[in-house]
Amino acid sequence: MSKLTARLDHLGVNTPSPDSQASFYASAMQMRTTPLDDGGFMCEGRERRMVFTPGQANTLRYFALQLPSAQDLKTLRQRIAAAGVAIQPSPSPFFDESAFLVVDPDGNRIVLGYDPQDRLRDAGLPARLQHVAFGTTGIDAMLAFYQNVLGLRVSDNVYADDNSLRSCFLRAGTEHHIIAIFVAPKNSFDHHCYEAGDWDLIRDWADYLSTHDIPLDWGPGRHGPGNNLFFMIRDPDRNWLEISAELEVVNEDRPTGSWVHQEKTLNSWGKAYLRS
Ligand SMILES: [Fe+2]
Repeated sequence: MSKLTARLDHLGVNTPSPDSQASFYASAMQMRTTPLDDGGFMCEGRERRMVFTPGQANTLRYFALQLPSAQDLKTLRQRIAAAGVAIQPSPSPFFDESAFLVVDPDGNRIVLGYDPQDRLRDAGLPARLQHVAFGTTGIDAMLAFYQNVLGLRVSDNVYADDNSLRSCFLRAGTEHHIIAIFVAPKNSFDHHCYEAGDWDLIRDWADYLSTHDIPLDWGPGRHGPGNNLFFMIRDPDRNWLEISAELEVVNEDRPTGSWVHQEKTLNSWGKAYLRS
């Protein structure tokens, strides 16, 4: 099994009001916005970018992973095609025509691409778009796809008392996870996360958001899996955004960890939201 090396590059998020979403991300996440022909917006900031398109709130149109090189992208495309998985054209305005799209067992659309642009060209507080999380009713099929077709590795699993799998954190490089999957009552877009770097930046982001009267929705706290410091805010559609710091960096030979499904696993400092 070939191992995937990739990072989260951008999300395409559906929304009934692309303009209010774009203006929120412009002020809260320090992004510049560009209107698109379909009524949506591209939003770009320091190591973070998003696309908002007209559609149903709280649904993801796609998420985009970036490969380290054009050759890596080509090799991955051949490997996915050989596995019999359908390959579709990319809808992303950020990637060129070498990018392509595949669909996971829950119907989430994944764009895979390569883009050599300087991601640090924008000024602003550090917060690199880093991971995306889903709720699922079919975690076994999702894991089989992400591990066996795309080549991600499991860093940590969370189990209920009856030993059933409740959540899973998958990596495609040295960061603890770029995708998290939670067992939930329905397939859903759970949240997305920006990695700020160090703890002082959690303070700086919270202070900055306060000047825009954006309250913290959950946290600050510390996650068990990933050991990262975090807080969550809500955008106007009530999508969850996470600001994280000091996410665990792992070696490829790290054994998969096992956690108990309880509040303390999701937040060792206090309250947590269990998805199931
Ligand atoms: Fe997260």
